[in-house]
Amino acid sequence: MAPIILVTGGNRGIGLSIVRGLAGRAPESTIIVASRQESATKEAVTQLQREGAKATFHPLALDVTDDESIQSAIKEITSKFGYLDVLVNNAGIGLNPSADYSDFRHAYNKVFDTNITSAALLSHLFIPLLLKSTNPKIINLSSGRASIHALTTGTLPPTASVSYSVSKTALNVLTLEMAKQFPDVTFYTATPGHCSTALNGFRGKRNPDEGAGVVVELATAEKGKYGMSFWERVDAEMREVAW
Ligand SMILES: NC(=O)c1ccc[n+]([C@@H]2O[C@H](COP(=O)([O-])OP(=O)(O)OC[C@H]3O[C@@H](n4cnc5c(N)ncnc54)[C@H](OP(=O)(O)O)[C@@H]3O)[C@@H](O)[C@H]2O)c1
Repeated sequence: MAPIILVTGGNRGIGLSIVRGLAGRAPESTIIVASRQESATKEAVTQLQREGAKATFHPLALDVTDDESIQSAIKEITSKFGYLDVLVNNAGIGLNPSADYSDFRHAYNKVFDTNITSAALLSHLFIPLLLKSTNPKIINLSSGRASIHALTTGTLPPTASVSYSVSKTALNVLTLEMAKQFPDVTFYTATPGHCSTALNGFRGKRNPDEGAGVVVELATAEKGKYGMSFWERVDAEMREVAW
């Protein structure tokens, strides 16, 4: 069966780079390019096809924070494909509260809702479709800032967004806990490095195509090549990141 891979937030940034990388590495696969903006998704797919990408693309409307949208995405994937090999929880946001803290709760909850609650819910709801695959995987897009080891032993400067940083550490714990709950699915958490995308005002030093490499490698690797862990890819080499 041809691999079916779902990438949330696949219309731009690292998500689009993941889709591009997957299409190059696994042209036999069907890549479900999920995004909450239908026109942006179609444009992204057209751009990839113009670049010569050979994979089959399936644009899908999906707002990860909207339960109805999630249910309709599951229905569509169930009826069109009947199984899923890889879920890439890429959709993510950063949002800082205003200086007077008047919207503090809203800003924090929105970041946690998108980056944690939605990734957790999607992962749970897609497990039945993933269990129909012979090599099911869930890959969560984390961050170098999620590493408590780096935070406590390294020389990381203060973060630009504490809520974002906390959400990514929580995502790593989600990965560890769900891996225990669902041993038949391989869970990964991965950091793309500091990439130039809208998320950081394009200040990241890394090209998103390079940052996406860790996810492309994990998604396309044969069963058992990589164990459940926190991964990064530097100079074309896969490395485990200290938790
Ligand atoms: N850039 C970095 O240096 C960096 C470093 C470490 C980790 N990451 C992680 O990599 C992932 C992608 O980030 P990026 O840098 O590519 O950021 P980006 O360019 O801002 O893209 C974010 C993506 O997430 C989507 N998204 C946000 N909220 C959504 C929702 N409710 N439903 C569906 N899609 C939603 C966006 O869709 P819309 O177009 O509809 O807004 C967009 O496709 C994130 O999880 C981020 O935390 C990035």
